[in-house]
Amino acid sequence: MRHILESQQFDRQLLEQLFMETKLIDEALNSAKRKKALRDICRDRLLFTLFFEPSTRTRFSFESAATHLGMRIIDTESAGISSSEVKGERLDRSIRNLCTYRPDAIVLRYHRAGGAALAAKVSTVPVINAGDGKGQHPTQALLDIYTIWKELGRVDDITVLIGGDLLNGRTARSLAYMLGKFDRVRIIFVSPKELRMGDDVLSYLKKHGVEYLETDNLTEVLGEADVVYWTRTQLERMNGDEQKHFEAVKKQFVFRKSHLSLLKPSGILLHPQPIADEIEDGVDESLQARYFAQSANGLPLRMVLLVWVQKLVMPRYY
Ligand code: NCD
Repeated sequence: MRHILESQQFDRQLLEQLFMETKLIDEALNSAKRKKALRDICRDRLLFTLFFEPSTRTRFSFESAATHLGMRIIDTESAGISSSEVKGERLDRSIRNLCTYRPDAIVLRYHRAGGAALAAKVSTVPVINAGDGKGQHPTQALLDIYTIWKELGRVDDITVLIGGDLLNGRTARSLAYMLGKFDRVRIIFVSPKELRMGDDVLSYLKKHGVEYLETDNLTEVLGEADVVYWTRTQLERMNGDEQKHFEAVKKQFVFRKSHLSLLKPSGILLHPQPIADEIEDGVDESLQARYFAQSANGLPLRMVLLVWVQKLVMPRYY
């Protein structure tokens, strides 16, 4: 694995290895002695993080992950306004230049689908896609399925309800692709008709024998879910008219406290965050709302990914 660009590139064996190594790193972070030793794994290596779109969790968790591994970081968190793109420079030329400053890896969030793939074409170092427009967000999907595995003890034989703006939400897309790697997974897509999951994802699921259904009625299907993955309406990706239209629709796509009683007792509620107003106040306090634990899993998981792309090995004693 050189670059991390999309969910489809992972296979089952690699995912299982990722789960095990993430768990070990997570345990190591909880022991002062082992936590210190982690800093030798990538000591004095250099990470560039280049974010053309807003981010809280993804950037902080990647930069924390790099720091816990002993890396140094040069970052730009508002590349959309502070990089030479503003002057008309194309992404591929920016990347070619940045590579000459000898980073060991680049984490890129771009505002157009295909940005990470374009960067990877010219980059001499590993590129990690931290979200590319309406495209994908594979490292989020990896931490999502890691969370499912950790919380439920399996990813096979489960029903996952993915709800919200499925047309524009890259995390929902990447998760659906990722679930296609497991056995007997059923996906229920819940969205307004106009914001249905893209046909590219649906045909991938068909091809890989994943059973799915689409509906706009949450309460009717909620009781079937082992995992509910709720997402935000991506208003920033819509034009003015669409925004007006979906401001109205989005009220019907709020996960409410009353929904919790329809969830299986063993069911969990996940959300990639940020949460705007699609989760009602009070839901956070439920033991079944696991999205803060989910986001915490991003740290050890991204540590493993940084080690992998740099072709370094995890010390055996972990
Ligand atoms: C998401 C994103 O940027 O795609 N956030 C994240 O990275 N966890 C989700 C969103 O913006 O709705």
